[in-house]
Formats: sequence, C-alpha cells, structure tokens
Amino acid sequence: MNNSLSVRHLLGIKQLTPEDIQLIFHHAEKFKKVINQPIKKVPSLRDITIANLFFENSTRTKLSFELAEKRLSADIVNFSSSGSSVKKGETLIDTVNNILSMKIDMVVMRHSSPGAPHFLKENTNTVIVNAGDGTHEHPTQGLLDSFSIREKIGDLKGKKVAIVGDIKHSRVALSNIFCLQKQGAEVMVCGPATLIPRNIKELGVQVEYDLVKAVEWADAVNMLRIQIERQASSDKEVPNFPSLREYSNLYQLNNEVLIKAKNNPLILHPGPINRGVEITTELADGEQSLVLQQVENGVAIRMAVIYLLASHIKR
Ligand code: CP
Repeated sequence: MNNSLSVRHLLGIKQLTPEDIQLIFHHAEKFKKVINQPIKKVPSLRDITIANLFFENSTRTKLSFELAEKRLSADIVNFSSSGSSVKKGETLIDTVNNILSMKIDMVVMRHSSPGAPHFLKENTNTVIVNAGDGTHEHPTQGLLDSFSIREKIGDLKGKKVAIVGDIKHSRVALSNIFCLQKQGAEVMVCGPATLIPRNIKELGVQVEYDLVKAVEWADAVNMLRIQIERQASSDKEVPNFPSLREYSNLYQLNNEVLIKAKNNPLILHPGPINRGVEITTELADGEQSLVLQQVENGVAIRMAVIYLLASHIKR
C-alpha cells in the first residue's frame, strides 16, 4: 500500500485512485480506534492551521470536520458566510485571500456553486478539501458511506448499492457513484425520471424507476433527501414532482416496500432526513439503518483525509 495520496487536494472522488480510497480507509480504521479511546486525541497536526469556510448551511459536515481537526490537534478557525462581509458584497476570492493571509495551511470549504473549490485551488497556494460544492461532489460523504457499508458486509467488489431519490440535485449521489465503482461495486440509481439526469447511464450505472425492484436488487440502499431548496425556483419552472405526498407514495422506503421486495438491505441516509418523506422513522431508526454509524465514521474518515493531505504542507 502507498503511504501518500496521489492528489494534493480533495476536490472530488473522481480524482482519486482506488489505492487512494483504500489508503484513506486504512487510516480511518486506525483513527476510529483513537476516537473510541478515553483520550480521543493525537498530536499529529499540532503545527497546522485549518480554516473551515462554510458558505452554505451544514450541521453534520461542519461539526464532523471541526471535531476531526481537533482530534488531530490542529489549530482551527471557522467562517460562516451568514454574518460575514460576504453579505456586504465581498467576492469569494477576496474573502479567501484575506483569510489565507492569516497563515492558513488548509481550507475546508462548502459552497453552493459547483466548482468553487476547484476555483480556489487555481487561485491560492493552500491545500483544499471540498466539503460539498453545489450539486457536484461531496467526497468525504462518498467515502464515509462506502466505509460504513464495508464495515458491515466487507469488500465492496461485486456488492450492489442502490442510490434512491433526488439524484439530479445530489452531490452525494455523484461522489457515491465514483467511490463505489472504484471499489468494484455495482451501482443503481432509482427515482422519478424528472429527478434522474438524462445521461447518467454514461457513468455506468443502472437506472430503475420502481423502488420495489431497486430494493429487491440491493445489498444496501442509500436514501437521498429530497432537496426542497433546489427544486423549481420560480413559478415558470415545471416542478419535478406534483407534491411531497405523491413522491412519498412512490419512493418512500417503508416496511411495505421491504415486504414486497422480500429483501432487508442495509439502509443509509446522508442526512438531514425528511422523516416521513423519503423514509419512515421506523426504518431510519431501525436495525438495518447505518445512519448514526455514518456520522461516527465521518469523523474518522475526515481525520484520515486531513492527516494524509497535511503531508503536502511545507513545515
Ligand atoms: N450529510 C451532510 O452533508 O449533512 P450537512 O448538510 O448537515 O453537512
């Protein structure tokens, strides 16, 4: 196994090799043991300063990165665009350059514009970690989802994973597709035709419009949130589905679907969950659900990513 990543930044899973993914998992396993010990901290990044720049709302990812950095003993600064000078019209590059002039080594960034972290990479000298860019990629989510499935059912080669719901607006879907395929898993996407990008088959995934068939096929189902905030933004746009109730009638994961499919796959959800819309509370909190393991694993995965990328920083 290599002992360093092939990339200097984590912009997306697309740029990672299968060996990079295995290396991140190898370190995440070690860090998971660390965060379950009475002393949950290691001194690895004592001389590193990381800025967490969140230009879009987040609960899990923001807290998880912050905790991962603290567990590695890094110094951190947190920035949220709400309440900042972004509201006075400051540009992304000006905001970032001002922050970087405070001698920051690494930037973790969430932004609503696809490609924003790539733009930063081109325009700064710092190490960039993408914490979700619009509808494009959410690489650490893709990694932690695979890591959580792998913990339960082992090597993902030949395993079947269905990603269900709002594929069109989901950065989690794309990062999961790349991550699963790079480990040799088969991937299916399922949802209403209006929420499935037209050319998605070009990525080598199967497309299924019937939730029962997708659940029947899968070893694990990843239920995506309906991204209400990214649906039709004006009265002139045609909505992607008539109502949440109609969406739930066809695409909600519930006991009735599991019984019809005669299958009991692992259940994942990246959060935040619209309880009663894409999944029932019973299943979100049930025995097959990995939802809270995903959150726990997120800290270990982010520790691994930051630790490995920090080796590119000149000290
Ligand atoms: N899964 C995820 O990205 O959640 P947050 O938006 O709360 O960070």
